[in-house]
Amino acid sequence: MPHELAEIFKSYQAEKGAVIPLLQKVQENLGYLSKEAISEIAKFSGISESEVFGVASFYAQFRFTPRGEHSLKVCLGTACHVRGGSNILETVERELGVQPGGTTSDYKFSLERVACFGCCALAPVMVVDKDVHGRMTTTKVKDILGKY
Ligand code: FES
Repeated sequence: MPHELAEIFKSYQAEKGAVIPLLQKVQENLGYLSKEAISEIAKFSGISESEVFGVASFYAQFRFTPRGEHSLKVCLGTACHVRGGSNILETVERELGVQPGGTTSDYKFSLERVACFGCCALAPVMVVDKDVHGRMTTTKVKDILGKY
């Protein structure tokens, strides 16, 4: 068992039944839930790997692939949607070859779809790490991605 998992499990001896906090802690440390981590959590908790996976996949907060270097979020809230947010998302998906929830094969970007960033006046909006890109157009997508 990897050292970091062993360390985490040590602090959970008293609450073996608490799978969700354990999944959260492991993800916080590793950045995602690897196959190995799921398998170790299953052994530790005394439930099957498929049950652990079932619990984790029920919640959107858990990831099964490592995060990319940059987080890329495209807004599909109402204001962004009516101003072409889905075209922006499609362009990003095509440019990067990745779907929302996924990470590019070079681990450069992780793509997510968001319901509203709270800056609807700038719609459609795309956020890379902490940089807000407003009034997006499909032609701006490539330029912006190229900067990261
Ligand atoms: S709907 Fe996109 S920022 Fe609000």
